[in-house]
Amino acid sequence: MRETTARGLEAARERTSRLTDFDDHELTTQHSALMSPLVWDLAHIGQQEDLWLLRGGNAAAQGLLSAKVESLYDAFEHPRARRVALPLLSPTEARGFIAEVRGRVLDGLEHADEQGLFPYAMVEQHEQQHVETMLATHQLRDGSPILGHGAPLPPGRPVPEGSVLVPAGPATLGVDGDQEPWSLDNERPAHTVDLPAFRIGRVPVTNAQWQEFVAAGGYDEQRWWSPRGWAHRLEAGLERPLFWAADGSRRRFGLVEDIAPDEPVQHVCFFEAEAYAAWAGARLPTEQEWEKACAWDPERGRRRRWPWGDTEWTPALANLGGDALRPAPVGAYPAGASAYGVEQMIGDVWEWTSSGFEPWPGFTPMLYADYSAPFFGGDYRVLRGGSWAVGGAAVRPSFRNWDLPVRRQIFSGVRLAWDVV
Ligand code: AVJ
Ligand code: FE
Repeated sequence: MRETTARGLEAARERTSRLTDFDDHELTTQHSALMSPLVWDLAHIGQQEDLWLLRGGNAAAQGLLSAKVESLYDAFEHPRARRVALPLLSPTEARGFIAEVRGRVLDGLEHADEQGLFPYAMVEQHEQQHVETMLATHQLRDGSPILGHGAPLPPGRPVPEGSVLVPAGPATLGVDGDQEPWSLDNERPAHTVDLPAFRIGRVPVTNAQWQEFVAAGGYDEQRWWSPRGWAHRLEAGLERPLFWAADGSRRRFGLVEDIAPDEPVQHVCFFEAEAYAAWAGARLPTEQEWEKACAWDPERGRRRRWPWGDTEWTPALANLGGDALRPAPVGAYPAGASAYGVEQMIGDVWEWTSSGFEPWPGFTPMLYADYSAPFFGGDYRVLRGGSWAVGGAAVRPSFRNWDLPVRRQIFSGVRLAWDVV
């Protein structure tokens, strides 16, 4: 266990290095007002690791940074758009700092008892989350490609029917620590819900389907949009997904290329997702529906750890880990299907749900008490399933992500759902 934990931390750091091993200018530039300069994420990763693993969360204890410098990396204190103006550590200082923290953490881990590994797994997931954030920053960056084209992916295949029936009945949602020891606070506790029957898309909505919506004037017809969504569409001038150009090309990590028709659409906001669903005669799933379709095994009357079963992830089951730099075409993972036959729920694109971010009944905050709780009841929508950019240790069927309904620099897409009448 301790060795697996150490390897997980090292895997996260390897990804961090690959995204930050560039000249100082790359790291200190603010590529978008929506994102921090990369050097902020870099040092913040170490600051959090120092706080949770070297000081047990005691912010009053002396860490490796002075209190004044440490406060620069407080995400609540400094909004992303203003971080570039702070007297941040230089890239060299940040690299030295995170390496020093990591060395001490690995020493401590050797003596940690097996019952005390949760904070390490939490910190590993925190770093993996910032790796995904840094990938979003790279995607927003102007200039020639510096990350390459991405690793090969399995080919798609024609997918049988558009949707799958999930009959009415109970399902256990959420997890407990004894089943999923690394689950974060908002995923717990396990609880049973009884849902009416619904249908859910077998695969996510593709670029080709989204192009039909654009061609049909979907962005110009108010009737498909919610009142808030339409106001946002007008104000932000939305006409197509972020990074798509009017000439039918898209920009991906500095490359300009044709839009792949059978890839899940990404870089759409919640309001666009809602409008697309209305145009398609569908709706977004609730997060309860999404999780049931992903993890519930109706024959056995129990959850699976993954949609495909209880075995660990392999690259043949889902597109995770970030190397591909893009979602896989639909139909690429028949072996990754859930008990209901729903495909590509894990990896590829985060899927917007219609649900606001609320605690599960019986919620208890974890050591990092401000990870979830400050965001409950806000103007957030839950996204599920993880994207291609997610580190494998940082997503599960119970994993809940959240963001504002206008955000689309994230790797977000859509899966449809329908009432059964
Ligand atoms: C879970 C992705 C919403 O980036 O805002 C990172 C993760 N929290 N550091 C975010 C997070 C603190 C969080 N999301
Ligand atoms: Fe963070």
